[in-house]
Amino acid sequence: MQKTILITGSTDGLGLETAKMLASQGHHVLLHGRNPAKLADAENAVSTLAVGGTVESYLADLSRLADVEALAKAVDEKHDHIDVLINNAGIYKTPDPITQDGLDVRFVVNTLAPYLLTQKLLPLLGSSGRVINLSSAAQAPVDVEALAGRIKLEDMSAYAQSKLAITMWSNSMALSLKDEGPVFIAVNPGSLLATKMVKEGFGMAGKDIRIGADILIRAALSDEFATASGKYFDNDSGRFASPHPDALDTQKSDRVVQAIEAVLAEIT
Ligand SMILES: NC(=O)c1ccc[n+]([C@@H]2O[C@H](COP(=O)([O-])OP(=O)(O)OC[C@H]3O[C@@H](n4cnc5c(N)ncnc54)[C@H](OP(=O)(O)O)[C@@H]3O)[C@@H](O)[C@H]2O)c1
Repeated sequence: MQKTILITGSTDGLGLETAKMLASQGHHVLLHGRNPAKLADAENAVSTLAVGGTVESYLADLSRLADVEALAKAVDEKHDHIDVLINNAGIYKTPDPITQDGLDVRFVVNTLAPYLLTQKLLPLLGSSGRVINLSSAAQAPVDVEALAGRIKLEDMSAYAQSKLAITMWSNSMALSLKDEGPVFIAVNPGSLLATKMVKEGFGMAGKDIRIGADILIRAALSDEFATASGKYFDNDSGRFASPHPDALDTQKSDRVVQAIEAVLAEIT
């Protein structure tokens, strides 16, 4: 069946590969990027492969929360339903890690923006939709002071904390919405896949990116994930697995969600 699927960060790496594969399977693909030229190139490349489905593109810099709200509004204006949201956009190393709001860009793009976008799109996703959240094998205990921009972190700490934070809110939203909301799944797509993030961040070629795209497509569409809300899929081991123990600790997760809500209340 044809699905309508929004993939953030689909101008490069796993997001672009996933978009190409989904379009070639006949799905409606909503691309998103922050760079107009890359987004136009992605739309051309994905449209060429599309069989039967439509391809749309949306511009938004997810390091700006106002852009995230505008993105949700733009999608809402064109659609009364989407089947899947893949919160894929992510950042690890950057020469300028502090946003205009004084926050670490890893927390904004990897944790806060997908949280806000998901909240805004819940009505479109309904109870039959799915939210696939990009986690990672790199997960470290979240310092809520760092999440709120009051403490600076080095690159890997910021990245690993932001990835545990998205894993925590994924489980937490699943638990609070239950059958009323979409299915939420956090996915480590596989470590050191050959994307820009890995080449620039670790200086290595990396493994076939189709390993990551394949699992995102399975998570988005296959029956095996339909009843897995709140779970974490680890594609390094190829199975559902335990995330960092903090993601299973409801008190710690509640504290992180409250910290996310507090930052969003201040900035949006
Ligand atoms: N590759 C791996 O081995 C690996 C392992 C575990 C998890 N992951 C996760 O997988 C996801 C995809 O990463 P990737 O490896 O495919 O990296 P990538 O090739 O660098 O792609 C990242 C995507 O996110 C977009 N993005 C970054 N900052 C943005 C912002 N401020 N606003 C809007 N879009 C933004 C990028 O846009 P531009 O094209 O403009 O840069 C790009 O489309 C990330 O969440 C990453 O953490 C990857």
